[in-house]
Amino acid sequence: MKISFIGSGKVGVAVAYTTALKGLAQEIVLTDVSSDKAHGEALDILQGQAFCPQANIKHGEIEDTANSDIVVITAGIPRKADEPRVMLLSRNAGLIADITKKVVALSPHCIILMITNPLDVMTHLAYQASGLPAGRVIGMGTVLDTARYRSYLAQHFQVDARDLDAYVVGEHGETMVPLVTNISIKGVPLVNLPNYDAPAVTRIANEVRAASGQVIALKGGTVFAPAVAACAILEAIVHDNRQILPVSTFNSNYGTAVSLPTVIGRQGAGSTLVIPMSQAEEAALEHSIANIKKYLNEINC
Ligand code: LAC
Repeated sequence: MKISFIGSGKVGVAVAYTTALKGLAQEIVLTDVSSDKAHGEALDILQGQAFCPQANIKHGEIEDTANSDIVVITAGIPRKADEPRVMLLSRNAGLIADITKKVVALSPHCIILMITNPLDVMTHLAYQASGLPAGRVIGMGTVLDTARYRSYLAQHFQVDARDLDAYVVGEHGETMVPLVTNISIKGVPLVNLPNYDAPAVTRIANEVRAASGQVIALKGGTVFAPAVAACAILEAIVHDNRQILPVSTFNSNYGTAVSLPTVIGRQGAGSTLVIPMSQAEEAALEHSIANIKKYLNEINC
């Protein structure tokens, strides 16, 4: 398995490092606009190989990503704490379309994992530019928000976050929709818990919306949660897990990329699951989709 990284910033390098730790690839290629940065990061990960699953870890130019199985795209301008992700729209749109065309020309059989923000718009753009089937252009989407949601819920209800079935759907952005009505723990509805606390769930849903901005304000950028979320997707692809993850993919029913629970395996994103929602949640999802499409219209997509 060859996994290449377009962008060796904090998130891209954290994903590459986690990929190496988990032994997800036998070849890892780091690229960046700064060749020294990519070189230094590749060396730093390589020098720990004595205690990791073996992989050939290199740096290079985009040409060196040829014949990749998966290409992770984090290139772009990161956002500031008080800056909505959508402010990155014009700055990153042209860059992503150009990168995607080059990546697919070099690796026509690859799966793209998009992480650059505004995520759903960048995923949609990459899908359009790539000419690939929708299932092979995957945005990290609300997998990250879902991780935050499950982590916070697990802390409050004192359960294992990995046992929680709770989803955030829609835009990876201000209109994301943490679903409340169908949260379960190994199939048992959360409302059945003796310590169930509806106001706490509402509070946590709001905390998830603010989670990224809170971290950015404190440390300048989010790194580890995005890396774990991205590697959950990579792991499902590499091991053909058929895991259900709320990735962002182009959805022909809605005419845009949007995050919904989707089966992930070696061929990329498969079928999207229809998840039970309340009327309010369905309306919130419609609003979220409309918000993504508003941004797409702004760049004539
Ligand atoms: C976040 C960035 C990756 O939510 O959008 O942390």
